[in-house]
Amino acid sequence: MVELHFKIFRFDPQADSGPHFKHYTVQAEPEERILDCLTRIKWEQDGTLSYRMSCAHGVCGSDGMKINGTCRLACQAIVKDYQCPEIVLEPLPAFRVLKDLVVDIDPFLEGIQSLRPYLIAGAPPEKERKQSPEEGKKVEEAIRCILCACCTASCPVSWIREKYIGPAALLLASRYIFESRDDQLLERLKQVDSSDGAWGCVNHFECTRVCPKGIPVTKSINLIKRQIEKKLRNQ
Ligand code: SF4
Ligand code: FES
Repeated sequence: MVELHFKIFRFDPQADSGPHFKHYTVQAEPEERILDCLTRIKWEQDGTLSYRMSCAHGVCGSDGMKINGTCRLACQAIVKDYQCPEIVLEPLPAFRVLKDLVVDIDPFLEGIQSLRPYLIAGAPPEKERKQSPEEGKKVEEAIRCILCACCTASCPVSWIREKYIGPAALLLASRYIFESRDDQLLERLKQVDSSDGAWGCVNHFECTRVCPKGIPVTKSINLIKRQIEKKLRNQ
């Protein structure tokens, strides 16, 4: 067992005049996750602490938070990797805090929804819509996205430009722009051909650095830009 000292962001807009940090001490096995420590704090020390979690296995994307300055999933952060005097937990930046570590992701999801993240194709064929392995390869990275929002929260452009759609939404756009069975290519490209869309990305690469699924998010955005030049500007 090791002893860990947590400093956790607390803010209840209903009751507090402003945010503050609260300190907790937890005993944990080196192989446990930061999420396990949070659960222990909530169950054994302070039931008022709020955070999101569901699967606890890096699948649902709900427990994204800032851990010692880096946005990541608490269920993938292992205790033995945090041999430091203090572990600081904060909500994802660039989002409105609803309570403690819980942020309002509605605008994030609405931005993604506005890009129609689903297959749009003509009348269904008699059997299945076929896709070759080579065509499938073009979208296999984007398919791994679990919508944890760590990329958008880490993007310096998202911090300063409220209207910028953000890396996660652009990744989802790329998933359908490069989808061989979709027939909305030009409309999809036009939708992200703006400074609030693909051109808002200035290659900070923070999204790529933090993505828990190892998706090359910045590269996907750059591929959209190249596709815009090719298909909309004939360059
Ligand atoms: Fe999370 Fe990666 Fe998807 Fe961004 S691209 S929402 S960091 S899984
Ligand atoms: Fe589901 Fe961490 S709790 S990804």
